[in-house]
Amino acid sequence: MTALARTAEPAAATPPRSRAWIPLFPTLWPSMMRPGTAAPMPFPFTDPGRRAFTFARYGIFAIAQALGLRGREVLFPAFFHCVELDALLAAGARIKFFHVGRDLQIDPDDIGRRVTSQTAALYVIHYAGFPAPIRDLRQLCQERGLALIEDCAHALLSSTAGEPLGSFGHGAVFSLPKSLPTPDGGVALMSNGWANIPDPRERPAHSWVAAHALSLMLSNLEMRKLPAAAPARSIGLRMGKAAFRASGRDYVPMGTPDFDLTQANTNISRLSQRILARQDFAAIATRRRANYAYLLARLQDIAPPIFGELPVGVCPLFYPFRSDRREALFGALRDQGVEIGEFWPDNHFYGPNGEFPDADVLRRTALWLPCHQDLGAEALDSLVDAVRRAVAGVS
Ligand SMILES: Cc1ncc(COP(=O)(O)O)c(C=O)c1O
Repeated sequence: MTALARTAEPAAATPPRSRAWIPLFPTLWPSMMRPGTAAPMPFPFTDPGRRAFTFARYGIFAIAQALGLRGREVLFPAFFHCVELDALLAAGARIKFFHVGRDLQIDPDDIGRRVTSQTAALYVIHYAGFPAPIRDLRQLCQERGLALIEDCAHALLSSTAGEPLGSFGHGAVFSLPKSLPTPDGGVALMSNGWANIPDPRERPAHSWVAAHALSLMLSNLEMRKLPAAAPARSIGLRMGKAAFRASGRDYVPMGTPDFDLTQANTNISRLSQRILARQDFAAIATRRRANYAYLLARLQDIAPPIFGELPVGVCPLFYPFRSDRREALFGALRDQGVEIGEFWPDNHFYGPNGEFPDADVLRRTALWLPCHQDLGAEALDSLVDAVRRAVAGVS
């Protein structure tokens, strides 16, 4: 039922050693497994109303419960991933959609027109780390008596006019593995406390955490073109899946699109907490901004980004752009070792059905390129070359 940003798996056959491997998400450097703290933790990790979950989706579920949204109407964007909608539906919320432009902009006036006496909350996604008009939306929520939930799954470390995204709403949620090399992790905030919702007590299975940490580390070795890393990663993935099958349990890929109610009470893994403490957050934000600017300067003529400008304070998660030849581009880039995401091709079973044509355009055409902190000059040049070749090849 749900959709994930589909990413290209590495080709099964061993790629030639010189080929680039450019992963979509940050990779795990072996040094990050050491205990200790690298730098002070920033917002949201310092927020007094924070809670950690194994994935952000369970934080969304908990926020909806804490806000008492069962049976109540939530205004929700017509363009979305799917699992966040599953989380709200699982908490019993009733959904009413609002318009999202093909430029990923949302309009507070359009949202205001949709508010009725039934509406209890507004759910806003800061796409790819770029801010929604959150001050206007906060004001709207104040005036109309709505709870505001900020989905910052893409927006860790992003701010607008000096205030961090996620600090405006009554609730906010962050998905860590998109921005950081943790095998799991979601952070949820409630500005007025968690009512009587208990803290998640379980931890994810060690085998699952270890398998995904290993995969992130092998991705790192392959990205750095260490000898035999590509075949090791490919074999490791196959062995991991076989081990899960032999234990009678399902192998659950990272970034699984499913909302699993049995996991709602699960906290972030200890390994992810350890990896978190080793991050240099200021350096990550600086690098991501520089990488986005680098791609913008070299790709805007052939792959203009959906967000042209890079506003001060934005920590971009991806470089999103649109192409009518998305499938072909996807394949051409995968063949060159570039992992690329499709920006939510599948609609939800309960999603809008033709009423929001711009959201349909995005589901058909939007792609995202990596711009994460692991990409240095050589990787960025390979990425630019690969995109230019792929675009030329499909046009
Ligand atoms: C916009 C959005 N919100 C929420 C989520 C859920 O995050 P997680 O995978 O950590 O549960 C995702 C996941 O891709 C997402 O894209």
